Amino acid sequence: MAGVQGPRTFDAFTGRYAARTAGLTASEIRALFAVASRPEVVSLAGGMPYTSALPLDAVGKLMSDLLATRGAQALQYGSGQGDPALRELICEIMALEGVVGSPDDVTVTVGSQQALDLVTRIFIDPGDVVLAEAPSYVGALGTFASYQAEVVHVAMDEHGLVPEALRAALARVGDRAKFLYTIPNFHNPAGTSLSDARRDEVLAICMAAGLLVLEDNPYGLLGFEGPPTQAIRARGGSSDGNDHVIYLGSFSKTFAPGLRVGWVLAPHAVREKLVLASEASVLCPPALNQLVVAEYLTTQDWQGQIEVFKQIYQERRDTMLSSLETLMPAGTTWTHPTGGFYVWTTLPDGLDAKIMQPRAITARVAYVPGVGFYSDGQGRRELRLSYCFPEPARIAEGVRRLAGVIEAELELLDTFGPALTARAVDGATTPGPGLA
Ligand SMILES: Cc1ncc(COP(=O)(O)O)c(C=O)c1O
Repeated sequence: MAGVQGPRTFDAFTGRYAARTAGLTASEIRALFAVASRPEVVSLAGGMPYTSALPLDAVGKLMSDLLATRGAQALQYGSGQGDPALRELICEIMALEGVVGSPDDVTVTVGSQQALDLVTRIFIDPGDVVLAEAPSYVGALGTFASYQAEVVHVAMDEHGLVPEALRAALARVGDRAKFLYTIPNFHNPAGTSLSDARRDEVLAICMAAGLLVLEDNPYGLLGFEGPPTQAIRARGGSSDGNDHVIYLGSFSKTFAPGLRVGWVLAPHAVREKLVLASEASVLCPPALNQLVVAEYLTTQDWQGQIEVFKQIYQERRDTMLSSLETLMPAGTTWTHPTGGFYVWTTLPDGLDAKIMQPRAITARVAYVPGVGFYSDGQGRRELRLSYCFPEPARIAEGVRRLAGVIEAELELLDTFGPALTARAVDGATTPGPGLA
């Protein structure tokens, strides 16, 4: 009887798992979640949108009206490709970044995370190469690992992905590369954006090599300075460019991540495979959530709400940058995002963000160590700070605590040498955008 057995300490199925499960590891962020959620800890770790700023009453009314008027449809199975009316609205949103796409080439997904999974599933065999920025989005790296892809990182600087580094990486891996994964706007975790000129160059390099670009753009409408930059998918001059880009979008950052609604715009032939893969995975994206999003877009001032979000995030970004400027010890550098949620920070030489993390938690501040954003062990001196969720006063306090921890680490380093602090740094070079 199962009830009389003691607690199991071993997994009885160890020998039965598929080889691909070896790539499934808890992300740095998941591991941190429990401790970072304690109220006394200022969490600069999570990238959670500030959903308290949403018009929650209006959204609640919209949902109950929806159920009252179209409940049977909202609670029914739907199309595997996604609700046609929502796909049309999605095309209007993408047009804000210059993308001309047909609703027929859009597939609605369960967040853009599912889109990442589907694209990887249909293109990657074990051992295939994915080119990705250094650093890159931890959730995408997890997906690539779960399909046993080899991730080859491409260096970034303050203008985003470095085209020369992309050429060099392509020369090394050749046809083993299946696609370039890039986050051109307000990069997670780097906080940088790919410059206009580089967007054209990156697309030209990939087109010449016959390589797909996977453009992941959840933050594009959250820029603080001027109108959105034209997407890579909108470039190339002709339909040729469009045939080389798979574009991912999401309502998670501009509306609500809890609804789990994202999308993928893909060349037609790719779209057909994506829909089949999605049907095999979820049958169809949730009808209720899609209708909520479509209703929100048609009955609420969703663009005005994005302005509200932008003001909130900009104030928090300003607080974080000015606190870093005032408080951080010499030798610490960080990026200057012009939108989105993240600041990428590089510690003074000799420090290790992963080793420092328990001391930071003791000092009641949480961040995400940089190593999780690379698939090859780089990033020990780096860490990600998020300003999207805490109130400005908490951000300032969090940075103050972090600066204190870094100062204490530097003192240890000064007194005892690298042995007690950062032996694990091992002189690794970090090509991420660790800029002043
Ligand atoms: C770059 C990037 N891509 C994809 C996602 C996943 O977003 P979604 O909530 O749409 O699945 C995130 C979430 O943080 C992200 O930062």
